[in-house]
Amino acid sequence: MGEDKYERIVDLAVRRGFFWPSYEIYGGVSGLYDLGPLGTLLKRNIVEEWRRVFVQRHQEYVVEIETPMIAPSRVFEASGHVESFTDPIVECTKCGRKYRADHLIEAASGVKTEGMKPEDLSRVIVEKSIRCPQCGGPLGEVRLFNLLFKTTIGPYADAVGYIRPEAAQGMFTAFRRVFEASREKLPLGIAQIGRVARNEISPRQGMVRLREFTIMEIEFFYDPKNPSCPLLDRVRNRRLRILTARDRLSEVDRPSEYSVEELVREKIVSGEWHAYWMAVASEFIERLGVDPSDTYFEEKLPHERAHYASQVFDQLVRVSRWGWIEVSGHANRTDYDLSRHSLYSGSDLTVYRRYPSPVSVKRRRVRIDKQAVLRIYGEKAPEIFRALSSINLDTLDLSGDEVEIKGLRISKDVFRVEEVEELVHGEKFFPHVIEPSFGAERLLYVVLDRAYSEEGERVVLKIPPRLAPITAGIYPLIEEEDLVRIARKIYRDLVEAGFYVIYDESGSIGRRYARADEIGIPYGITVDKQTLEDNTVTIRFRDTREQIRVRIEDLVDWLRKSLSPS
Ligand code: GLY
Repeated sequence: MGEDKYERIVDLAVRRGFFWPSYEIYGGVSGLYDLGPLGTLLKRNIVEEWRRVFVQRHQEYVVEIETPMIAPSRVFEASGHVESFTDPIVECTKCGRKYRADHLIEAASGVKTEGMKPEDLSRVIVEKSIRCPQCGGPLGEVRLFNLLFKTTIGPYADAVGYIRPEAAQGMFTAFRRVFEASREKLPLGIAQIGRVARNEISPRQGMVRLREFTIMEIEFFYDPKNPSCPLLDRVRNRRLRILTARDRLSEVDRPSEYSVEELVREKIVSGEWHAYWMAVASEFIERLGVDPSDTYFEEKLPHERAHYASQVFDQLVRVSRWGWIEVSGHANRTDYDLSRHSLYSGSDLTVYRRYPSPVSVKRRRVRIDKQAVLRIYGEKAPEIFRALSSINLDTLDLSGDEVEIKGLRISKDVFRVEEVEELVHGEKFFPHVIEPSFGAERLLYVVLDRAYSEEGERVVLKIPPRLAPITAGIYPLIEEEDLVRIARKIYRDLVEAGFYVIYDESGSIGRRYARADEIGIPYGITVDKQTLEDNTVTIRFRDTREQIRVRIEDLVDWLRKSLSPS
């Protein structure tokens, strides 16, 4: 099928109601897509699968919350996005069109731009004589463009706010509340599924690069001094394909296979929880119908990493037209976000680590001779008391007869430094964070791409049955009153039982099956003459076209069992 598989998927998606460009009647806006009736159901099933695999199955550690899309600017100043969430942009000085500079250079000259600063990109544009692809005009200087969507909160022009580019910040800013509501236990995962927006410079990859999309993220907080993952045994032997940063730097471009155990033991991944969530992600992606050979994790090089991360692996999936695309990121965000929000907000976002038993520590402290201060300094005594109580013993120079504190010279006769022993019961620290983060619409495209197949004239979307937007089609074999009556009743009963199903009586049964195959309905339930005799129907399987007979009264259970997670 090659290149045009993508065109066929897009054609099918638009025609049958999976997705299409938003605001088409006004010419559309790139990077904005509507989901149609089937797309909405498919996305919901993908999101539910994510929720089940990442949240519900880990409910002893992970809770889900919802926070707003809009945040005051201070949040994104603290998070570093106001300063660092940028892409390089270049403008044609003749026609005014704007381009993502690194993409333009790579497309026009093949020069690899990874890690280049704006001035490097400007130099390449000059050296390679790259001009505006639209009008041929000369290009200006490359600069950085911030991808945050800016707004104001309420009618005040100075109350600047931003639409969140990631759900993460809502989880960091709510950390203390969630921690307290979760009985102050670590590790603690906070999950969130919600809309985010990124003002991409010139998105041209359809559903793969959107300006607004649904993100599914977990911020998983753990104690860096207690980093072991008690769930590791569940995934220890799972094998992941990984292209490490070291391999990439030595020009290796094929991933190698490692067990999760090896990833941890050989310190390829920053820690056990990091490896654990990557293993869960690999299982999740397989549940969406992606073959393990069509996915791998790529470690980002230092200059490719987001500003908050110490180690990042992107999970890539191979799709038609776009090749390898990123479907999730797995970042070690250290204590970056909590410590920044503590600093910017003045709120203490540390947690307390209790020692197994109290530790005795030696401490130096200042003992002030109050009488001496009053006698020597008279009315200046309050000032001297204040200065002495703010002494920093680590930096104080005690070598002379006097010390200098806050510009005051104070005689050593009025105080002495003594060593005391104290019992300390614990310490404060910032939890560290592992973040798995997925884009839902990309996954929707991945599911369609992996599912699309042509068998002769027939198009079949082999969507995993649990994810299929419509679970079953109900058909009377022929339009005879008795058969129609029973088929309609089955339809109604399945609707009432909570399934998404369709009823179709028009055209030959072959055509009805074909229409259903094209939108990925996994089961066809057909009422025929035999139904009148023994109350059974046929169930036809979309992928094999095999048929079995099932009693009508068993249909609900049969479908529930077929859709239940394995
Ligand atoms: N929170 C992950 C990201 O912004 O990509």
